[in-house]
Amino acid sequence: ATERTLSIIKPDATKRNLTGAINKKFEDAGLRIVAQKRIRLTEEQAGRFYDVHRERPFFGELTEFMASGPVVVQVLEGEGAIAKNREVMGATNPSDAAEGTIRAEFAESVGENSVHGSDAPETAKEEIAFFFSGLEIVG
Ligand code: CMP
Repeated sequence: ATERTLSIIKPDATKRNLTGAINKKFEDAGLRIVAQKRIRLTEEQAGRFYDVHRERPFFGELTEFMASGPVVVQVLEGEGAIAKNREVMGATNPSDAAEGTIRAEFAESVGENSVHGSDAPETAKEEIAFFFSGLEIVG
């Protein structure tokens, strides 16, 4: 089925001017960018977005990093978009990521790993609503 997923191009990637290179990977995989904006998160906003990780030891590092520079938040649409996006991103830790994936090519570490993508339909719905109103998504 056609799905939508929330994607974030993280500060390590925007800093290195990789937005276009990453978007090309998504588009080449058949994912359509149906909404996109470049924003700067506060640590508080990053904390709300990553609330499920609040008790993890890396939470402070994660929210500080996500607030350290611009991010590009986007909605990707396509057949099986959630799984397809995860395939194109590669494993969370770039040292485990398959060749040709975004994280294998661009990520610097498990923390500064260039991209985020929703992991399931329910979280995709919540994460899209966190950043976008219906009017901002043009399929
Ligand atoms: P993401 O898909 O954005 O979801 C949560 C993020 O936490 C994950 O990608 C990683 O970037 C980050 N993360 C996971 N494990 C660690 C870790 N051990 N140290 C720092 N950051 C981590």
